[in-house]
Amino acid sequence: MEATATPRTQEVMKPEPGTVKVTVDEVTLRKFELSDVDAMMAWASDPQVAALCRWEPYESTEPLLAFIRDVVLPHQWFRAICLGSEPRPVGAVSVSPTGDPCRAELGYVLARAHWGRGVATAAVKRTVTAVFGEVPGLERVEALVDVANLASQRVLEKAGFTREAVLRKYGANKGVVRDKVMCSFIDPDAVPE
Ligand SMILES: CC(C)(COP(=O)(O)OP(=O)(O)OC[C@H]1O[C@@H](n2cnc3c(N)ncnc32)[C@H](O)[C@@H]1OP(=O)(O)O)[C@@H](O)C(=O)NCCC(=O)NCCS
Repeated sequence: MEATATPRTQEVMKPEPGTVKVTVDEVTLRKFELSDVDAMMAWASDPQVAALCRWEPYESTEPLLAFIRDVVLPHQWFRAICLGSEPRPVGAVSVSPTGDPCRAELGYVLARAHWGRGVATAAVKRTVTAVFGEVPGLERVEALVDVANLASQRVLEKAGFTREAVLRKYGANKGVVRDKVMCSFIDPDAVPE
């Protein structure tokens, strides 16, 4: 969960007043398939999406296809975010292993066309509801967010995560060492309505 947001980026991310939010029921998660590569390009190639993340935007389909094949498909928990009956994913959410089986790291990303409607929040709620039963030994889901990534911090707050600390100079993002907010979730029965 890396970020290098500028004030300009943050302004762009703020949704229009009156934007209609989705319900959690409208947001579903499923496993990725290689055929999702074109849908994934919508967010993976977008510099504005990547600006808040560790990765560089993809410039062509081939390396993204390799990423899906080599990382996404064998991953312990990497899901496509879908809306309603539309099979094309609009984003991704993952829960990745750390050095200890009791904790895993949450990550998520959404195509810009769908920002500001509660989609990421609904996807994170569904994720924490699911993973504790699906990942053996898991007792804590943690998320590390750049201090400037206010939208992502708000997503975690709305999904019931606890903000634990600001970890100073914690990790580099695109060559710049940044402070990170550590958030965690430990109780699958405490997902907000
Ligand atoms: C972060 C991200 C996943 C959020 O997705 P989303 O579906 O728009 O999130 P939601 O609509 O569920 O919630 C966003 C919240 O942040 C708020 N927000 C957005 N921009 C903000 C800003 N600049 N300052 C303060 N709050 C902001 C929204 O108002 C909303 O809160 P609200 O419901 O109380 O109004 C999406 O912007 C994204 O994919 N960004 C790029 C990748 C990224 O940063 N991933 C996470 C870290 S790796």
